[in-house]
Amino acid sequence: MPRKIIIDTDPGQDDAVAILLALASPEEIEVLGITAVAGNVPLELTAKNARIVCELAGHTDVPVYAGCDRPLNRPLVTAEHVHGKTGLDGPVLPDPEMPLAEGHAVDFIIDTLRAHEPGTVTLCPLGPLTNIATAFRKAPDIIDRVQEIVLMGGAYFEVGNITPTAEFNIYVDPEAADIVFKSGIRIVVMPLDVTHDALVTPHRNDAFRALDSKVGHAVAEMTDFFERFDIEKYGSEGAPLHDPCVTAYLIKPDLFSGRHINVEIETQSELTLGMTVADWWGVTDRSPNAMFISDVDAQGFFDLLTERLARL
Ligand code: RIB
Ligand code: CA
Repeated sequence: MPRKIIIDTDPGQDDAVAILLALASPEEIEVLGITAVAGNVPLELTAKNARIVCELAGHTDVPVYAGCDRPLNRPLVTAEHVHGKTGLDGPVLPDPEMPLAEGHAVDFIIDTLRAHEPGTVTLCPLGPLTNIATAFRKAPDIIDRVQEIVLMGGAYFEVGNITPTAEFNIYVDPEAADIVFKSGIRIVVMPLDVTHDALVTPHRNDAFRALDSKVGHAVAEMTDFFERFDIEKYGSEGAPLHDPCVTAYLIKPDLFSGRHINVEIETQSELTLGMTVADWWGVTDRSPNAMFISDVDAQGFFDLLTERLARL
């Protein structure tokens, strides 16, 4: 029985690969819809890029909704320096022909959770948590209906990638993240601690190219672009595929391991705004609220990803 999910996303090359992996895995995942949020690039571009990816995957049947165009109560911070001005720099892909679905993404999230049995829909946020938090504020009744949240965001041992202490998705909308982490919903967190192990080395990127398909070449070209930032900054062997860790977890959870701990969000301090304060060593009496993933079988992750992308 495939898991029903909503992917909330700010594509972003790594978001794109996460969406492709989900669409290539119908036995495990049924994508009810994709909701775009402002993050890596402004909303108009994330909503466009999500449709570009659906068309690349040959899945124009998946509705794509535009959501919030800025954080709850802060100006938008974007990441063109990482993802390029289109947010999907690298491959040359045609503009989408599929239209945006009617209605706001937040209302789609609310309506979908109300229309399905409680505990049967998983939310998979891959960007700032603005759409999710707005839906919870607008319709608190849906909170208890969410099966699980599996998100990419945060960092502890790996510390920040947009500030010394904060990871981008949390940093852009820390108040939204605070609402989500205090919701009481089961949350699985894919922080930089694990995503920085999911590196697209040249050998792994060659395996994408060797698929010799539209998707294979597009993913390799996205990675060629996307990896510059991380190689320059970290001297790493390649781009960390952050968001596909979320989709891979849904397909093969035992590739990953972590700890169920307390994670709270810094929303006051200018110095550490957006930090995920993870009580990894259990030094507080704050109750655990998140499965904080720290490790991945990186080769197993890439073997799965490459095998599934070959299906598209
Ligand atoms: O910090 C990495 C996260 O920020 C990823 O989701 C990337 O796509 C950006 O949204
Ligand atoms: Ca993202």
